[in-house]
Amino acid sequence: MNPKFEYLLFSILICFSWILNAQENLIINTDNRKGISLNGTWHYIVDPYETGFFNYRWKERNEDDPEAYWNRPIVKKISDRKEHGYADPYTIQVPGDWNSQDDIFKYYEGTVWYQREFDAPRVEKDETVYLYFGAANYEAHIYLNGKKLGRHKGGFTPFNFKIPSDLLQEKDNFLVVKVDNKRHADEIPTVNTDWWNFGGITRDVKLLILPDAFIRQYSLQLEQKQDIIAAKEKKMFSLEGSIILNKPLNSSEVVLEIPELNVSKKFPIKGDSLHFNLKAKNIELWSPENPKLYEVVFKLKGEKLRDKIGFRKIETSGKDILLNGEKLFLRGISIHEEIPLEVRRAKNRADAQQLLGWAKDLNANMVRLAHYPHNEHMTKLADSIGMLVWSEIPVYWTIDFENPEVYKKAKKQLKEMIIRDRNKASVIIWSVGNETPVSEVRTKFMRNLIKSAKSTDNSRLVSAALEVGYNRNKNYVDDPLGEYTDIVSVNEYLGWYGDLPHAKENSNWALAYNKPLFFSETGAGAKGGFHGKKEQRWTEEFQAWYFEETIDMMEGMPDNYTGMSPWILVDFRSPRRNHPVYQEGWNRKGLIDNNGNKKEAFYVLQEYYKKMKKKYD
Ligand code: GCU
Repeated sequence: MNPKFEYLLFSILICFSWILNAQENLIINTDNRKGISLNGTWHYIVDPYETGFFNYRWKERNEDDPEAYWNRPIVKKISDRKEHGYADPYTIQVPGDWNSQDDIFKYYEGTVWYQREFDAPRVEKDETVYLYFGAANYEAHIYLNGKKLGRHKGGFTPFNFKIPSDLLQEKDNFLVVKVDNKRHADEIPTVNTDWWNFGGITRDVKLLILPDAFIRQYSLQLEQKQDIIAAKEKKMFSLEGSIILNKPLNSSEVVLEIPELNVSKKFPIKGDSLHFNLKAKNIELWSPENPKLYEVVFKLKGEKLRDKIGFRKIETSGKDILLNGEKLFLRGISIHEEIPLEVRRAKNRADAQQLLGWAKDLNANMVRLAHYPHNEHMTKLADSIGMLVWSEIPVYWTIDFENPEVYKKAKKQLKEMIIRDRNKASVIIWSVGNETPVSEVRTKFMRNLIKSAKSTDNSRLVSAALEVGYNRNKNYVDDPLGEYTDIVSVNEYLGWYGDLPHAKENSNWALAYNKPLFFSETGAGAKGGFHGKKEQRWTEEFQAWYFEETIDMMEGMPDNYTGMSPWILVDFRSPRRNHPVYQEGWNRKGLIDNNGNKKEAFYVLQEYYKKMKKKYD
């Protein structure tokens, strides 16, 4: 074949595979699949002017352009001109935000090129290699040996690309990832947020070595419409599930085993997807008090895929939230994905143990993972230690609700969040946003996201954090979006952003909906270690006073009240918080300060949750 034609054909195939490889082909449960970690030391180039991507006429460089930063800078003779390269000491750790790894990155918003080499893993004849990223904030373009595998937008959800077998070399595969964390008005989130714009390959990277046909995604949970009280009495439960393969099969079968429940079922599969139902006896239901996880094994053509799944039913009934048919009170706390002691994004199991350990200390039974999907270590740990989870997409504040492309971006991030975590029993609430300004176009945008969440997953509640007018003496919760959410969640700051904490005694809460009412945020700032009269702003005493008044106010709440997740577990970085003494770029509403010290308010809330635990257990 004419070499030029062959090259053209190869490029078309790569481009086509790039389109096919879009995010819909997300592979879940990657920890339990055959693979190799690419975490560790990579090289980098900081590229604020996008030199590696555009030529001097601002045209995207051709794929084989030797000055493109995705191409190996090969020097053949001493006169060759090269103006880019990857070498020590320009090294960076993956996973990890770049901001915390070197002072030059502290406020950096732009492109960083990441590069490393790897030898091809040993691959059996029918196996294929995939490249998987836990997340990269915000836009990532992936290149291997000078060829583009694809790109992904969205800073907090996973993505993967198939590596064409003829692209993989035995040795020294040249992997380059362009990550750009610039903010844009038409992205999700938009330009203004109250958190630090940590950029980079912030989560795990791995090569997955998978058979020609494999189970890409699946779901398994209690059938949510069953009468859970009757099922518990009979000790006979209905389960429902789904399987999606990476490719259609003429005729095959999937085997599902749950050894501890004596379940072993064969399901014929024709095509690339399957829905199934089955019965199981004597299931120990998952709950925060008893986070029972069952070993589950899916088999396809000899391949075994293991997972640990908890079975539970979450629902609302009028003003109540029910977990496994029993009334649930949410002793929550909001958390950002940050380790403040090292001023960085949380990224591994140890970080998850730190954050959820503090939440357990607080007597919490729930965490609101704000304002974006956290790394999977958090939701896996929540499953095993028994911590309920609210998981959220960053449709935050003034999103461009008029723009259909922005809706598609929000919907894509919502879908990626759900697909990754839909088998985590701990996740009970999907949130489609936070404090979005009420308007007709916004309510339509959010209502459609709620419909999309429910059509993807019927085993969870859907909500969003709404606002109320806390300067009115009647705190009336009537955001039109409350019509469409399962629970009505509101952020209130009466006594911090309006008046002083004792103003809460005049509050008179009412809800326009016969639904559970949840306070997704309430809080006040304090500089850890700063003490004085409770009336003095920023003292720990002021913050403790705020929580005493808040708890008192909650005691008088209408009976729709089903709990709260105060803002916030620990101080976190924000470019919006610039008081030179009390803030210095930190949002100080943490109950724990950025040195890990518990403030007085921590103990006020801890005591309240101890009391509520006794009341509901
Ligand atoms: C808002 C917002 C948070 C923010 C908090 C605050 O409710 O949801 O992201 O950090 O208030 O003002 O501290």
